[in-house]
Amino acid sequence: MNPNDHRAQHREAPEPEEGTRATPKIVLAWIAILIIWGVGYYAWQVGKPILGGDSRTPVAEASAPQTSASEDSSGSETSGTAGGSDTGGSEAKPDGASIYSAQCSTCHQANGQGVPGAFPPLAGSEWLQADADIPVAIVHDGLQGQIEVAGNTFEGVMPGLGAQLSDAELAAVLSYARSQWGNDASEISPETVSEHKERFGERGSWSAEELTEVFGEP
Ligand code: HEC
Repeated sequence: MNPNDHRAQHREAPEPEEGTRATPKIVLAWIAILIIWGVGYYAWQVGKPILGGDSRTPVAEASAPQTSASEDSSGSETSGTAGGSDTGGSEAKPDGASIYSAQCSTCHQANGQGVPGAFPPLAGSEWLQADADIPVAIVHDGLQGQIEVAGNTFEGVMPGLGAQLSDAELAAVLSYARSQWGNDASEISPETVSEHKERFGERGSWSAEELTEVFGEP
């Protein structure tokens, strides 16, 4: 209706429109190069050993201390010193600390303090530091029922670990625990564990009461 309308429309710039410009060739070429390089590198690496970490293998780690131990003992043979006595012959002694962290620390904790109300402490425990027969019986056969440890009462179930651990490992882990966290009890020998097995066989769990009856007060 208004003639001015028309003139105003003519003055307007045309609506902007998105142009269709092809992706530059150089970009396409670059993408192609990256894809070829990626696939090629993958194909080239397939089947090669992975070189992550420090490239140690479990075998290399396990054999390392043994070779040094045999060097030690052969050295002490020739020199005649007592330096080789700590290697204890040809068989390497199991490492109580690592057995502890694998087999016991989930319940009794790495610091031996246990978990109040659930798992009794090993630090300061009269049972652990009693005559060797008692801790050997507990770990070999298991323990359940009420028990008082370092002034607190617990009632739980500890599975026997006799099937998982060799005599030497069981002795080593107990010797370790008896010397940690302020504990100060004698080492336990693998022979004590063997004797225990001969005497009791596979008898199943003990209770604190039974332990006291058989072995006396801890
Ligand atoms: C699955 C959890 C669990 C694991 C694993 C475990 N224990 Fe126990 N342990 C217990 C419980 C629970 C008791 C208390 C049982 C009860 O109430 O009669 C206990 C009791 C003991 C006791 C007697 C009480 C005390 O605190 O001194 C000793 C000693 C002991 N454990 C040593 C060990 C050792 C050594 C290992 C590893 C070789 C180990 N335990 C692994 C749960 C565990």
